Formats: sequence, structure tokens, C-alpha cells
Amino acid sequence: MPDDATRIQTAHGELTLREIAEMLPSTGDLMASIGTSWWKCAHAARGGNWELAAYFARRTRGLLRKLAVLRPKYAGDVASYESERIAAVLAACDGEDTAAFETAYAAAVGSANELHAKWGKPYIRWTLPEEPPTDLDLSRGGRAR
Ligand code: HEM
Repeated sequence: MPDDATRIQTAHGELTLREIAEMLPSTGDLMASIGTSWWKCAHAARGGNWELAAYFARRTRGLLRKLAVLRPKYAGDVASYESERIAAVLAACDGEDTAAFETAYAAAVGSANELHAKWGKPYIRWTLPEEPPTDLDLSRGGRAR
């Protein structure tokens, strides 16, 4: 029996390894989460909560690393994006440098949209929502309370 036909017993029935693998998040699922994290990253930085901004930049990086595992064809672009784009955003967060953050963030958004075009989806142009998220304290004091 091929390994991917191995059956796993769950509380509700049996699933093969192939069925389980095919239920892992799709590129679109991961990208939807990436978009949310990236949105919160910008507004946390603008609010002055730099630790929260760095948290969301790292969360974006972690989701992209998952994409590289699940879809190896993106691994090279993900590695370049991490070293060229996410690293610059994280460095700006570490330095609490608003100007450097805005420059690095805008470059990262432009690069993401170039990658969407490269991979056949030029109509996916991510733009930062103007509204800040309302579920988190984005102010500098947010980390002190
Ligand atoms: C912070 C950077 C990025 C943001 C904010 C972003 C955002 C998004 C969003 C919102 C979508 C639409 C998801 C949906 O609701 O279905 C999407 C799709 C997509 N993105 Fe990104 N993206 C980023 C970086 C990247 C990178 C680095 C790559 C490639 C290495 C990439 C490749 C793709 C692809 C291929 C799709 C189409 C998904 C599908 O096949 O369903 N993106 N992206």
C-alpha cells in the first residue's frame, strides 16, 4: 500500500494521509492571513507599538515560510522576499524608525504585487486598508499596560 493511502483514525472516521495533506491551507488561505498580518503590522508601527509591528512582520514571515514548504515552487521567491523585504521592515521596527519603516514597507508591498504578477495573478494588487484594526491596542502605551 502506498504511504499516502495509510489510513488515520479520527474521532469521526478514517482519513488517508493524502486526504489530510490535501486539507492543508492553500496559497489563498495563507495569503488571506498574510494580508491581515501585514495590515496590522503597518498600523501598529504608525500607532507607535513597535513590538506589535515586529510581531506581525515575524508572523508574516512565518506564514510565508509555511507557503515555501507547502508550495516549493515559491521557495526561492519567499527566501529573497524574507531577506530583502521583511528584514528591512523588522530592522525599522527594531530601530523604531518611522521613515525607514514607511520606505521598507512600501517597497515590500510593491515587491509582493510584482510577485503576484510573476505568478500569473496581476489582478491581485494588495493595498493597505486605511482603517486601523480595532481589536488591538496600537499605541506605544499598549505594551506597558
Ligand atoms: C506581505 C506580502 C504579501 C501580501 C500582503 C500578499 C497578499 C495577498 C493576498 C491578499 C492575496 C489574495 C488571497 C485571497 O484572499 O485569496 C494573495 C494571493 C497570492 N499571493 Fe500574495 N501577498 C504577499 C506576498 C506574496 C509572495 C512573497 C508571494 C510569492 C512568493 C505571493 C504569491 C501569491 C499568490 C501565488 C497568490 C494567489 C493565491 C492563489 O493561488 O489562490 N504573495 N496575496
